[in-house]
Amino acid sequence: AAKVTVPSLLDKKLAHEPITVVTAYDYASARLVDEVGLDVILVGDSLAMVMQGHENTLAITMDEMLLYTRGVRRAVRRALLVADMPFGSYQIDESEGVANALRFVKEAGAEAVKIEGGRERVDLVRRIVGAQVPVMGHIGLTPQSVHRMGGYKVQGKTLAAIEEMRADALALEDAGCFAIVLEGVPRELAKIVTDELHVPTIGIGAGPDCDGQVLVLHDMMTMTFSAPAKFVRRYADVSGIMREALGNYKRDVETHQFPSDAESYHLSQEMRDRMAA
Ligand code: KIV
Ligand code: NA
Repeated sequence: AAKVTVPSLLDKKLAHEPITVVTAYDYASARLVDEVGLDVILVGDSLAMVMQGHENTLAITMDEMLLYTRGVRRAVRRALLVADMPFGSYQIDESEGVANALRFVKEAGAEAVKIEGGRERVDLVRRIVGAQVPVMGHIGLTPQSVHRMGGYKVQGKTLAAIEEMRADALALEDAGCFAIVLEGVPRELAKIVTDELHVPTIGIGAGPDCDGQVLVLHDMMTMTFSAPAKFVRRYADVSGIMREALGNYKRDVETHQFPSDAESYHLSQEMRDRMAA
């Protein structure tokens, strides 16, 4: 299948073909995602939580995001590779934000970056897009705003919040975003925003009317350790499979069932005879 590009995602929206997105943070997972043929692989800063065990996404650094993105890059041939700009890498000033976006392309092979925020990011988005780095927007429940939001809560429930989110989405599109993630948004509002935009919306906890969907790989595979959010569908119980396999390995070693003779290397017959002599 043909390489996924920024323009090809716009074509998918026009053709009403759903866009498939999932996170990946390592070579093996990214290789599987790419081989199965999903459209976009996001190296999300959610890796701070699911890969590193942090409480939230705030602590992860540029250097860490670059390290994970490089491993994913080596695996991906077809999917569009998008990297999350971490908290602190674009909030200080726009020049620093542009410089950090360029690092993802130059040092890690990302094809686009994702930035959280609405109208307050318009000037930054214009400058990064002007530097020829495609930008994915991200509005609604923006996890880097956890302290301002007072926790992870569905956004856009009041009339004022609905109007603000519509204005944010239109402003980001006007600034040049090629797609916008809608996270933790009522289905009805996600549909309004999706219908108003020319660029695709990618929903997570935003209902079925978005142009595409994204899930965190560890959530959908059950590689997390607490109850999932309402919007997560568990497509596999990987932690269950791993627990069983690890238990079996432990038992086999402890009972001398592993390794077998067939799983061992052997000296040649000649060497065995000499050693026995
Ligand atoms: O970090 C992440 O995984 C994300 C997606 C959930 C959109 O931002
Ligand atoms: Na993120």
